[in-house]
Parts: sequence; structure tokens; C-alpha cells
Amino acid sequence: MRRPFRTGKAASATPRRGLKASLSSRVKALTAKMTLAEKLGQLNMLSADFAVTGAYVPIRYLDGVRSGAVGSIFNLWGREAARAAQKMALEETRLGIPLLFALDVIHGQRTIFPIPLAEACAFDVGLWERTARAAAAETADDGVHMTFAPMLDVCRDPRWGRISEGPGEDPFVGVAMARAKTRGYQGEDLRKPGNVAATAKHFIAYGAAEAGRDYAAVDVSDRQLDEIYLPPFKAAVEAGVAAIMPAFNDLSGVPMTAHGALLDGLLRRRWRFDGVLISDYTAVQELLNHGVAADLVEAAALAINAGVDVDMMSQAYVTCLPEALERGLVTMATIDAAVARVLTLKERLGLFDDPYRETAALTPGDFAAHRALAREAATRSIVMLQNRREVLPLSPTARRIAMIGPLADSPQDMLGSWAGAGDRTTVVTFLDGLRAAMPDAAIRVSRGVPIDGDDVSGLADAVRAARDADLVLLCVGENDHMSGEASSRADPGLPGRQRELVETVLALGRPSVVILSSGRPLILPWLAAQADAVLATWQLGHEAGHALADVLTGAREPGGRLPVSWPRAVGQIPVFFGQRPTGRPMHPEQQYTSKYLDVANTPEFHFGHGIGYTRFTCGAPRASASTLAPGERLTIEATLKNVGSRSGEETVFLFTRDKVASVARPALELRGFAKIALKPGARGVVRFELRADDLIFPDAALTPVFEPGEVEIYVGPSADPSRLVGASVTLERAAPAASKGRAARRGRL
Ligand code: GLC
Repeated sequence: MRRPFRTGKAASATPRRGLKASLSSRVKALTAKMTLAEKLGQLNMLSADFAVTGAYVPIRYLDGVRSGAVGSIFNLWGREAARAAQKMALEETRLGIPLLFALDVIHGQRTIFPIPLAEACAFDVGLWERTARAAAAETADDGVHMTFAPMLDVCRDPRWGRISEGPGEDPFVGVAMARAKTRGYQGEDLRKPGNVAATAKHFIAYGAAEAGRDYAAVDVSDRQLDEIYLPPFKAAVEAGVAAIMPAFNDLSGVPMTAHGALLDGLLRRRWRFDGVLISDYTAVQELLNHGVAADLVEAAALAINAGVDVDMMSQAYVTCLPEALERGLVTMATIDAAVARVLTLKERLGLFDDPYRETAALTPGDFAAHRALAREAATRSIVMLQNRREVLPLSPTARRIAMIGPLADSPQDMLGSWAGAGDRTTVVTFLDGLRAAMPDAAIRVSRGVPIDGDDVSGLADAVRAARDADLVLLCVGENDHMSGEASSRADPGLPGRQRELVETVLALGRPSVVILSSGRPLILPWLAAQADAVLATWQLGHEAGHALADVLTGAREPGGRLPVSWPRAVGQIPVFFGQRPTGRPMHPEQQYTSKYLDVANTPEFHFGHGIGYTRFTCGAPRASASTLAPGERLTIEATLKNVGSRSGEETVFLFTRDKVASVARPALELRGFAKIALKPGARGVVRFELRADDLIFPDAALTPVFEPGEVEIYVGPSADPSRLVGASVTLERAAPAASKGRAARRGRL
């Protein structure tokens, strides 16, 4: 039974107020000259074949450029290729509108940095911005104008392969990453050489895919949207992000590619986002699979009426919007508004005045500096999960080292997913790095078993190698395509027969370090009790080997702290520190409380966990005042002391707990993170700022409110309650004069 076709458009079909007023005279004049076909061409984005990032059928995309039916291309890079395609657009089409080139530069272009989840472990906004700047410089150097990054999908489900691409489990980290990466990629002016347009993706709640299965439906509450998934995107919009990409998923039954209420209603009308909305790969056409469009004409109308300006790879706009116009499913005003936004982006990039953007080529010195930055980022991404018997840092006398496992010398797997232009031949593998750092050591390599499959024929050799060694390094984990897009795992442990390899070698009792390479937390409840040291190295990029060696030898300490709780069991998922307490909080001695019979509630390792080569104590937080009223802010200090024997750097987190409020509040909320480096025996103070606005939350009606009452503040090295020290402050109503101006803002953030 056909249901009445709805265009999915928010109430008004006219472009958002204020948009026309902000258009340049060039864009207005150009739009007025364009034929319908030329307009639709500007809304059509096709993939070249330098990389494959979706179901790909060979497309003669350059024919589309010549005919004016393609306005932007992705998955093409390199000056010559970009120049050739741009020349076609400029000289062979009627209006000579320049092409936009885009690419998934997720963690580096030519120099590959650690995957985003790894870099999140650094809890260092300056580093996040610097790596984005380096990536932008290399991207622009390759003739590309836009990256489809940062990926801002908060995720609490390691089954989902794309957890590797994002900021981890917490929106506060997501907000900080959004700001840093948008600044890093875009700089102050998109026209400036070395800057590229950024794309915040995937809007919205893609990381909450049902059962952790990629592309699956999403059902999250409005509260979760407001408190968890929207904040990083709001931060990106406030930072001036040039584009946003709607997610593949439906949200409570409405596919994001057709979600007029959130795309046009929230992003455009409430948040005043004036950039471009680019569909994900064939997502417009996929509205048929979602079952909300009977044909491609309806799909195209739904998407453009919802606010999606650019159709990536469906070719629905160029082929079907003329019929949609005839059928009255879309207006020319809507099409013109989308065209204007695309042309305005090209204008902001300076493409009309300098379509080839021929910047001075990067020098070998620039690339060397980027490699050094990649090495620094990698050492700060490595998380030491445990270090029993203090086997690390390695003793300088360690002479006979066995490197065992399929990831000891595996270049491609160090790069991780989304490493398009990264040259695997210049990757420093773990073996390369150790050989360079310990030239006098006898390093014996034995693969043992492959990453996947049942071949255990190499086990005996691995045992022999381990038996003869002073130290065993077990290099195990996932390959580069076991995480990332379309790479969910229902049982995210060690693939293949690697567990057998690890347990067989550890049973020999040699001093051991287990080095995990993965795009996600691996669920290995059996490992901690058997291994001495365990390092989570994620996928560290080009400088993986040097960074690992820096950490193993103690030249650098492992600087990473977990941006995601590490589950003990799949059955715990989602496990995260911001859970609400429930009416029956877990109590070990009481039966009727919220717990499992077979597994503890707590994660294997808490958010923020990670150890270095020294130890710190952290004193109680000291607030600059005992009360806080709307519009005010507090300084919170805590004194740390290095009580170990080596210099080191600690990461300290600031959490709050609102114990009594008009709605149940999370057990902990992250409000800040800071780092402090101290020499042995030295003391130092970390400082946080806590603004009253930071404590505004959505009440039962999702109205942002600031509620008087006591709020606990905690500081510590992780979200492990046993490691936190607390104090409290009292939130007060605004002084009478101030309260008049503070009508509670209604609706979404
Ligand atoms: C992919 C991804 C998206 C990427 C796009 C273009 O399917 O979902 O993150 O930017 O296609 O490659």
C-alpha cells in the first residue's frame, strides 16, 4: 500500500533565512546563468579510482567532468592528476566552474599518523591540531581541497569497526577533538596554502549502531543525542567546519540522509550551519533499501529536501531531480540553495581565482618533520596496560630477544584503515624499530601463526625462539582491515590461533611483553594474569617501530591513556564511565542489585587507564570558591607528586557528579583533562577551569537547565573510582539581577 509521498522537508521550502543575503555577487550571478543540468552537476560527486571506499563500479568520471555533470571528485590525488582534471572542467565546460577535490585524509596523507582512536589516547589537543595541520599541508600539496575528516562518532561498542576512526567513548573528548582537528585542517582562511576544508562526520549517532554492526539501525534517546552524540558536531560547527556528512544509519526509523528535522531544522536553522552537507557514499540511493523511497526520484527529492547538498556516488541528483521537479516533489529554490552553498564553498577555497592552487611543493625537510611528528604522536598513543615484574623498560643488557607473532614485521598493518596515499614501503615496522634501537641485541623473529586462519605449523619454531631468549616480545592483534568501515567483529578477541600462540609462549615463563596492534580494544580477559607487560599500540602509522622501540627502551615513556573503557566481556557492552547509577547500584553482598552473575560490572581497564615508568600521587582538588552561580567560573587545582625514580608525565582528569538533580545524572561526567611532567620527587599543580555553563544539562523535557545544589568534583588518573579524590561545590541560583536574563533555553543544544 503506497503511503502519501512526503518530501521530508521542514515546514518552509524556502532557503534558510539569511542564506541568500550572505551569497556573494559572483555566486548569485553564476547561479542565475546556470542551466538545470549545470546546477545538478555541481551537486554530483563521483569517486576516481585511486582508492576504493565503497561498492565501486568503474565510472568514466572524467566524461562527467567534461560534460559539466560532475562538480567534485574524491579518491584522486597528486598534482598532475588534479591539474589534468581541473583543466578539463575549466576549459571544456560552458561556464568553467572549477572542480572540488576531496579525500578521506583521516590520519595523514603521505605521512600516516596513529589512527584517531590511538591519537585520542594522547589527550593532547595541541598534538591533535599539529597532526591535522601536517596532514592538511600534505593533502593540499597533493592538489586536494577537502578532507572527509574529522570523524566525530562517539562510540562505546568495540564490536563496531569504526571505533578506530573516532574520539572514543566520551563527548567531552569528542568536542576537544572536533575543535582541534577543524582548526588544524582549515587554519584561519581556507584560501591560504596548506589549508583544506574539513568535513565533520557522520551525523549522527553512527557509533551506536545496533549490536555494533556497521550500518545497522540506531535507536538512541533524545537525551543521549543531546548529551553524547551532538556535542562534538556542535563544536565543529562553532569552529567553522566547512562541511558535514550525514551518517548511513537511520535514527529511530528516519534515515539520516533524509532527516530534515536534524539536517535542515537543527543544523541549518538552529545551529546556523552555513556549510555544505555531503551525503555518504551512495547513501541517497540507499534510501530505497531503507524503504522510505519507492524510486530514485523520491530518494533524490527526500535527500535534497532534507538539506543534503551533494550526492556522493548515487548520481540520483543529476539523473532524477529533473523528474522530481516535474512531479512537484522539489522546488527550484531548494536546488538553487544547494548549488549556492557548493559554489560558496569553492569560493571560500579560492578556487574561482586560483583553481590550480599551485602552492610551493613541500620539501624533503617538511616530510622529515612530519615523520618526527608521527613518531612523537605514536609514542604518546601507546598505552601500557600493565607492567608486572617491571620488565619494561628493557634492560640494556637484554641481548637475546625473541619477536614472536604475525605483527612483528608487518608494514601495512601498522598503517591501519584509511591510509590511502600512505606508502607501505616506508613504514618502520616493530622489527625495524627494535633493530635500529638495539643494534647489539640478537633479535630472532618467528611468526608463530598467521593473523587469521588455523595454521599452527609455526608454533614449534616460536617456542624454540622463546626458549632461547632473555625476553619475549609477542606482537599480535588485528590486521589493517579488521577494523574501520564494514569491519565489525562479534567477538573482538585475538583472531585466528593467536591466543594459542600467546598462551603457549607465555607458559614458558620467560619475561614477556605482549604488544597488541588493533583498531579497537580487544577483549582478552585471559591475558592479564599470564603476561608480564601488555602494551596497546593500536595502529601507530609510519613510525610505529621507532615509537615502540622508544617506549620499550625507556627513551620515551608510554604516554597514552585509554579514551574508551576496555571491556572484560562482549556481554558488558556498552560499558562506559558515564552510566547512570540505577535504583539498585551494584553491591557485592546484596543480591538484588545491578550486576552480572559471571562477570564484574567494571571494565577490564577503566577510561583513562595507562601506566608509565614512574608513579604519581594526586592530592584532593581545591576549588577557588565553594559556590558557583550562572555565568561564573571556578579554578580547580590539584597537587601531584612524582613518587617514582624516573621523570614522567601524568594525565589528570576532572570529573563531576551531580548526586541530586531533577533527572538521574551519570555517575561521572568528564569536565577536563590536563598533563603534567615532573622529575622524581617533584611536586606540581594541575589547573582546570570549571564554568557554570559546563554544568548545564537537559532536564526531563530536555530543556537546558542549571540547577542549584551540591556537585561533587573529582580528579584522578582515570575513571576508576578507587583512583579519584573528591571535593564538592554548591551551585547557586543566579544573583537576582542576573537571573532575569537567563530564561532557560528550550530545545536542543
Ligand atoms: C565511506 C565512509 C565515509 C567516507 C566516504 C567517502 O563509505 O562511510 O566515511 O568519507 O565513504 O570515501
